Amino acid sequence: MPAAVYCLFPVAPACRKIGLDRTLNGWHLAQVAPFDYRTALIQFIRTHAQPADKFGHQPRLYQLAVRLAEGKPFDDDVLFAAVWLHDLGVFIGHRPEAPARLAVWDHIAYACEVAPGLLRQCGFPESKIPAVLELFRTHLPSTRPTSFEGTLLRDADILEQLGAVGALRTIAKVGRDTRFVSFADALGVLRRNLEKLPGCLELPAARLLAEPRLKILQDFISAAEIEAGGAEL
Ligand SMILES: [Fe+2]
Repeated sequence: MPAAVYCLFPVAPACRKIGLDRTLNGWHLAQVAPFDYRTALIQFIRTHAQPADKFGHQPRLYQLAVRLAEGKPFDDDVLFAAVWLHDLGVFIGHRPEAPARLAVWDHIAYACEVAPGLLRQCGFPESKIPAVLELFRTHLPSTRPTSFEGTLLRDADILEQLGAVGALRTIAKVGRDTRFVSFADALGVLRRNLEKLPGCLELPAARLLAEPRLKILQDFISAAEIEAGGAEL
């Protein structure tokens, strides 16, 4: 029997009033045709990853994380779900807009709260949900993963902050994130990434993949500084 297919629709105000769905922050899944949880999650993130350039982080991250495993066994359900949902709390429409609230926003706590309901509606295995949440909690460079899947996600997420892609993702925040007013703010973050993140990588495969990314980042920062000639960026 084929798995169910799900689409995501905004909950109408009337439905909100009667509490049709309170777990998905005003969104619910409607079953429309045969499908699987992976397609449902991708479809959900395609709609919710805002600004739209944030979508690409998820497929790149999954590809990187699988590559880092180098053929060693891992739970692909857990890794896939964690990759696709770990940044839910940073998307516009999910994170708060007010600068004061945004400054103290815990996007991991938000993902831990919202993801279980979403995963259940997608038909994701219930027994694996706690492992997905654990990956949310341990994916930042400042934390330490407790599983191989967690290390794959964390190292891949660090790699996404380095190299040309890391530069693009950071520069894209200028003017649309209160912490990034000018290019100098973006360069400051890239300098910190260059200095601090390589030492956080755990897997030898990740350290190898980081090498060209670090060179590109260093060259880019140096070129920006030279071209600016001491003037404001
Ligand atoms: Fe991420």
